[in-house]
Amino acid sequence: MSRRSSAPARVNLLGEHVDHQGGTVLPVAIHLRTTVLYTPGDAWEIASRDHEPGAAWERYVRGVIDEMGEAAEPGRLEIASTVPEGAGLASSAALEVAVAGVLAPDMPSLELAQLCRRAENARVGVPCGLMDQVASACAIAGHALVLDCGTETFFHLPLPEVEMLLFDTGVRRALADSAYAERASEAATPGTPAARHVAEERGRVDRAIECLDKGDARGLGALMWACHASLRDLYRCSFPEADKLVEQLLGTPGVYGARLVGAGWGGCVLALVEPQTRLEGGTLLLSDDGLSVHGTEYTSTPP
Ligand code: GLA
Repeated sequence: MSRRSSAPARVNLLGEHVDHQGGTVLPVAIHLRTTVLYTPGDAWEIASRDHEPGAAWERYVRGVIDEMGEAAEPGRLEIASTVPEGAGLASSAALEVAVAGVLAPDMPSLELAQLCRRAENARVGVPCGLMDQVASACAIAGHALVLDCGTETFFHLPLPEVEMLLFDTGVRRALADSAYAERASEAATPGTPAARHVAEERGRVDRAIECLDKGDARGLGALMWACHASLRDLYRCSFPEADKLVEQLLGTPGVYGARLVGAGWGGCVLALVEPQTRLEGGTLLLSDDGLSVHGTEYTSTPP
């Protein structure tokens, strides 16, 4: 008997590059998803209809399998995904969580997210924080997930009356090859620009939580502009295409705030806009639930 699991990508309202330093983050899961169909068998077989054969993505799948150890029983994994890779939307976490979810359908979702993060840190070699995996496994639709990466605890806050538009710059990066690790270690060194970004971003997250509490979209937007400037000038993970887009959006009616989203060095700009605001090049994002209940649904139909 086959079973299926699916896990979403995410954007992050605020709290960029603070998770690996124990800060609080505010991700929102979105409708782009990775789905895995698992059929038990004698050996592992991994196939994807949406990834290049043999490319880096397979390392994430193998990483999760290895991290699970004997708990993972061999079989065929058939993967399908609508999440673009290297776009700052946490495609690797969606893949890891969907794989872990189908192999261990009864594991509590926070534990599952922690296992996937360990797999990415130890087996793939990316020193990422916990944000993406928890967003993918634990988010609920219409809410920001408020995740304290120091205590590894979370709760949910409803989104105000806003819509989210995503602008893809088309610039791509591979997290494993980027300056992610280098900058994370700078962030852990007091007195550096990256450490200053982390300290100030933590303050912005506290204020953003107050804005979410009050339903203050304008206030939240103002914090997003400030976050972008800090990612550009202090954390130094932005790039010209993203800076240009954010600058254009700054003067656009109906836009509360916009910023580079995700790790950086490529990817997308997220804009928070008044409902019904439609802008050229912007895709409307729908917020979604984390690890889908299909994790425990038995089926023999391919994804
Ligand atoms: C990537 C990492 C996350 C986080 C973000 C930046 O998505 O996987 O852990 O550090 O970058 O906020």
